[in-house]
Amino acid sequence: MLTDQIISAKSMPTLPHKTVSLTVNEKHCTLEVLPWVSLLDALREDLDLTGTKKGCDHGQCGACTVICDGKRILSCLTLAVMKNGSEITTIEGVATGGELHPLQKAFIEHDAFQCGYCTPGQICSAIGMFQEGKALTRAEVKELMSGNLCRCGANTNIIDAIMEVKAQMSHE
Ligand code: FES
Ligand code: FES
Repeated sequence: MLTDQIISAKSMPTLPHKTVSLTVNEKHCTLEVLPWVSLLDALREDLDLTGTKKGCDHGQCGACTVICDGKRILSCLTLAVMKNGSEITTIEGVATGGELHPLQKAFIEHDAFQCGYCTPGQICSAIGMFQEGKALTRAEVKELMSGNLCRCGANTNIIDAIMEVKAQMSHE
């Protein structure tokens, strides 16, 4: 009988949650997550850090970029369990002491966002790119930021904002 075949939620086996310890924006946290949960979903849904955006959820748009152990990563393609013990910075953690990050200020000054949906990923990606130390020219910056898509036309302003902060850094 059909009713015999229906498995009630109570009789389902307990799903195998894993414990993951992360330091996110300098705060230590411990999560219980299913092994297939992405870091993006863990940040947004378990930690309520919704600044990191879910665009494509397939590694194609860069909206979900965060900084993990000093490197930019796509959090939609990263399982939370893979990052046990890591230090993560999201857009909520880039300002310091109540002061916006220089890139956040430059994005505002250059009108570098229209819908703003790609902005958190663009800023985290640019911070990671600066840390990589590879982008020397505007053309290289464009190439190394090409994984972060802006679909509404702010791209030139985004690159202008990044170049301005890069120039400030080279004078420090
Ligand atoms: S949401 Fe991760 S790359 Fe698009
Ligand atoms: S500002 Fe709209 S997608 Fe980037």
